[in-house]
Amino acid sequence: MNFKEVEQIDSKYHFQIYGRLPILLKKGKGSHVWDSDGNEYIDVLGGIAVNSLGHCHPNVVNAIKKQAEQLIHCTNIYYIEPQVKLEKLLLDNCDMDRALFVNSGTEAVESAIKLARKWAGKHGKGGGIITMEGSFHGRSIACVTATGQKKYRVGFDPLPSGFKTVPFNDLQAVEAAIDDSICAVMVEPVQGEGGIVPADKTYLKELRDLCDKHNILLIFDEIQCGMARTGHLFAYQGYNVIPDMITIAKALGGGFPIGALLAKEEIANAFDKGDHGTTFGGNPLATAAAYASVSTLIDENFAQQAQLTGTYLMNRLNEERKKTSHITEVRGKGLMVGIVLDREGKEIVPEMMKRGVLANCTAKNVIRFVPPLNISEKDLDTAVTVLVNVIEEVFSDDN
Ligand SMILES: Cc1ncc(COP(=O)(O)O)c(C=O)c1O
Repeated sequence: MNFKEVEQIDSKYHFQIYGRLPILLKKGKGSHVWDSDGNEYIDVLGGIAVNSLGHCHPNVVNAIKKQAEQLIHCTNIYYIEPQVKLEKLLLDNCDMDRALFVNSGTEAVESAIKLARKWAGKHGKGGGIITMEGSFHGRSIACVTATGQKKYRVGFDPLPSGFKTVPFNDLQAVEAAIDDSICAVMVEPVQGEGGIVPADKTYLKELRDLCDKHNILLIFDEIQCGMARTGHLFAYQGYNVIPDMITIAKALGGGFPIGALLAKEEIANAFDKGDHGTTFGGNPLATAAAYASVSTLIDENFAQQAQLTGTYLMNRLNEERKKTSHITEVRGKGLMVGIVLDREGKEIVPEMMKRGVLANCTAKNVIRFVPPLNISEKDLDTAVTVLVNVIEEVFSDDN
């Protein structure tokens, strides 16, 4: 099928909920993808922070092929080897004690909310959860309510109760919101959809102290910032603060859908048998893909690559920032980088695409770079040059 045929069928049959760009992608390798006309693109969006190993990494491809020939699905009623290998690998490399596998980031956050509330019930507390303005936690009804951005909730009343949102990086606001109804604070160490906003260095540590003082839980949503992206396998490791629960997804499966909730033993124990579950979560194919993905991230030290290449990218962008008033800030951590523009940036993205670079714009005016962690400096140079040229051309028309 060519692009026109696909577009026609999609416009007739698919829910029209995505603002799609007009290309038909056919294949990907490393940091590059190709469309149906054979055009090549540098992918600095990486499937929105999913393709951290690059597209179709051979370790992930081989693991999926091998597992698909053995056992694709069997339900969690039975033990399977890839699942236990994955949970051991993840838990050997972080401070959590137990893992629960699900199918997406949203489902990981849902699981965290349920676990926090179950724990609260067992400790005579209310089930309220404090989240941050600008945060994003997923699209289910509970997750859009937890998300600190109104636009995701509008039109979906009635919403579940028990969520309070306070300004991000503002400890006093959290303290003021804590009362008997609260059992947990949930925060992204680096906000992704909110415009690539890292938590202040001391904020997460202070949040930890505050949660300890009030005997409430600290949940880190690392769905976008985890899995080596910020220069550590888990983002919390770069802040030296240990949460009670962590949610991960996106890069976990090397492109294959899988999410997970990781928790400290005493918190995980709040779930009794039958309290939670999933048909597909942690299935053989997903966990085999994720095991290949996470072991490659660890063995080939992708965290260090993210740190080094992230520093290179930041320096490059800061050089460019000096030359233009249209870039007001460059921020982020590791290879999670936001280029803040002096106006809305949605026109920038299709223009970059026409010139062979896939990025996106979030929080209205932030161009997001979350590329594969093994992207070359040469590809980043090209992406930055394209970005800067497009900004100058598109915004000069505005003036
Ligand atoms: C921090 C964070 N949490 C949760 C989610 C939801 O994940 P998913 O789209 O896999 O449901 C996202 C997705 O962008 C995210 O960035």
